Amino acid sequence: MTSKKNTGFFITLEGGEGAGKSTNLEYIQNKFIDTGHEVLVTREPGGTKVGENIRELLLHARDQSISDDTELILMFAARMQHLNEIIEPALLRGKIVICDRFTDATFAYQGGGRGIPDERINILKQWVQQGREPDLTLLFDLPIEQGLERANNRSSPDRFEKETLVFFERVRKKYLDIAEREPNRVKVIDSAKTSDNVHKQLDIILDNVLDRL
Ligand SMILES: Nc1ncnc2c1ncn2[C@@H]1O[C@H](COP(=O)(O)OP(=O)(O)OP(=O)(O)O)[C@@H](O)[C@H]1O
Ligand SMILES: [Mg+2]
Repeated sequence: MTSKKNTGFFITLEGGEGAGKSTNLEYIQNKFIDTGHEVLVTREPGGTKVGENIRELLLHARDQSISDDTELILMFAARMQHLNEIIEPALLRGKIVICDRFTDATFAYQGGGRGIPDERINILKQWVQQGREPDLTLLFDLPIEQGLERANNRSSPDRFEKETLVFFERVRKKYLDIAEREPNRVKVIDSAKTSDNVHKQLDIILDNVLDRL
């Protein structure tokens, strides 16, 4: 596993719409709190004041067109602020940082979904992250229709949730490609299963991490 500095532990939650990232956040957080760790929970896009303003633009912009490259750059602008202001300081203090979505989402949505080549995304990634990588990524995976159904039951669709099934299939495939390429960092959770079953899958992965912290 790669990490810029040998302190703290950086966990990211990834996956498509309605896959269960936000639902399982508390369960994951509690596993670390119960074992005496200090935890910081945050999310992207957002996590800072300016980041939440960018999030609002990206998710709920009405009557404004946003080009694919603009969207990509806004994602990384929010991420830069987030890393500087929140994530890096928390990791320096030895905290467990749990982030609901991070750069894999950019590769999946702006890359897989919108078709921006990885090489271009990598330019911004290197600039913004300066070598920082998640220590562990939990990829919540389930069939697109099931995820959208869950998400639609929860709230009205945002700018991304209004995309086509083909778009989401490309997003899912990109996520799974990343998991296949980086099996040490990215652990796939079958989130089509019941909540209890998902918790059991998380236990296996996280107990293993806790043993090594
Ligand atoms: N294992 C499960 N079985 C059935 N329903 C679930 C399961 N996990 C989550 N849900 C429900 O699915 C809906 C979407 O879950 P959640 O909000 O956690 O998804 P998400 O991955 O955070 O999605 P988004 O990317 O849109 O934020 C919620 O209403 C949640 O209660
Ligand atoms: Mg969520």
